[in-house]
Amino acid sequence: MPSAMSPVFTPQEIAERVAQLGARISREYADKDLLLVGVLKGAFVFLADLARSLTIPAQVDFVRLSSYQDKDHPGELVFSRDLELDPRGRHVLVVEDIVDTGRSMSKLMASLAGRGAESVRLCALIDKTERREVHVEVDFSGFRLSQGFLVGYGLDFAENHRCLPGVYKLLNPKDA
Ligand code: IMP
Ligand code: MG
Repeated sequence: MPSAMSPVFTPQEIAERVAQLGARISREYADKDLLLVGVLKGAFVFLADLARSLTIPAQVDFVRLSSYQDKDHPGELVFSRDLELDPRGRHVLVVEDIVDTGRSMSKLMASLAGRGAESVRLCALIDKTERREVHVEVDFSGFRLSQGFLVGYGLDFAENHRCLPGVYKLLNPKDA
């Protein structure tokens, strides 16, 4: 573990929580046509574990989001990678690493609902509450925290630390 980090969730704690989420999702989506939509890149580890904890069939697709920052399109959501599968008529479960302000998830969920999904719900490994600006319902939440910049288990800081097996808090995010 690099020195400027402190452990927040161990691999074992994460595995136990993912198993609980997988069991709940398997119960709630039994007999439903489930499409898991992972949000790249941060959700790749969580989605891989969650998908294997399900006891029901599911299909998997991915999106990658970015947002225009220029003044003509303030905060507009852009798919730098869009779905390959059609969400129409399907029960979509978005799988995200961490919800912070809530902006990206609220826009993604609205976009998926607007494209005719039968239902759109959200599963996030971490629900980070202190900076929330837009209400989003986190239907399946792994862990709730108020604040801190987290890395590991898919989460990055400037593309680093995604491959750590646990979740860590960066002690000095500015000079990490
Ligand atoms: P928001 O909810 O629209 O503000 O965006 C959340 C996104 O910001 C997440 O999907 C992450 O990509 C990134 N993010 C927010 N907080 C953290 C963090 O603590 N560690 C790593 N990425 C974060
Ligand atoms: Mg993200």
